[in-house]
Amino acid sequence: MLDRLRFGGAPVVVTGGGQGIGQACCEVLAELGAHVIIASKTAENVHRTEEMLTAAGAPCEGHVTDVADREQVDALAAAVAGSHGHVKAVINNAGTNFVSKLEDLGEEDWQRILAIDLSSVYYMCRAFLPLLKAAPGTASIVNVASTFGIIGHPGMPVYCAAKGGVLSLTRQLAVDYGREDIRVNAVCPGATLSPRVKGYIDSGLVDGAAVEDMALLGRLADCREIADVIAFLASDAASYVHGTSMVVDGGQTVH
Ligand SMILES: NC(=O)c1ccc[n+]([C@@H]2O[C@H](COP(=O)([O-])OP(=O)(O)OC[C@H]3O[C@@H](n4cnc5c(N)ncnc54)[C@H](O)[C@@H]3O)[C@@H](O)[C@H]2O)c1
Repeated sequence: MLDRLRFGGAPVVVTGGGQGIGQACCEVLAELGAHVIIASKTAENVHRTEEMLTAAGAPCEGHVTDVADREQVDALAAAVAGSHGHVKAVINNAGTNFVSKLEDLGEEDWQRILAIDLSSVYYMCRAFLPLLKAAPGTASIVNVASTFGIIGHPGMPVYCAAKGGVLSLTRQLAVDYGREDIRVNAVCPGATLSPRVKGYIDSGLVDGAAVEDMALLGRLADCREIADVIAFLASDAASYVHGTSMVVDGGQTVH
């Protein structure tokens, strides 16, 4: 199995690879021998991850890309097509949360969050399908959804709707592309201590103790604990895992 976890230099794209779960994915994939293509919104974050992987001797490249912008996604795919001609996997991780009850949620915020959390997955999959099809052997897509794509949570209508959409799109793409040797899966993380979530807790926006209580393990996940599962799903070690959503939540959703 260890051999099947290895990427042997194959190119893998990680969106939102600039920090948090995405950055942890870049680190794990680099350890497993992938050529990591970091696509994230801010140059500072992209370069930080790039420097981290380069210092560890891992081949990688950074692209400053807003995945909520279709033209930027198409430009990223064109650049990767030019330099690699194919990709082994695409990890659609970029995303963000937004807290507002529906009655206070303006259309601009609704559209903005849907673009980041859901349309980005459509843009990325559409742009990268030709490169996934061109991969030698099986390719895969891993979409990062959330437990809040499965269950409701107070004050998060647009996030829950977007992540539910990601799960549904994952299943649908599995139907269309399994026969083309592209596996499509999703991961549903529970509360994970990324810089964004740490910021919510530190600023008092979110009650850290209440978040810890949601999980039967009594703590938040470390970003690496989510990234390990994502890397497994992207690898050939998961060769018969297709169309599923893997919940990685410390037991949040079973009680
Ligand atoms: N942290 C959690 O508790 C948690 C739980 C469930 C699901 N998730 C999901 O995991 C993913 C990563 O979350 P995180 O907590 O690590 O977030 P984070 O905010 O710490 O990091 C997200 C990264 O994505 C980048 N990004 C944001 N919007 C982008 C865009 N439009 N284009 C390109 N890059 C963009 C950011 O610059 C940042 O580098 C998200 O999809 C999130 O919804 C997180």
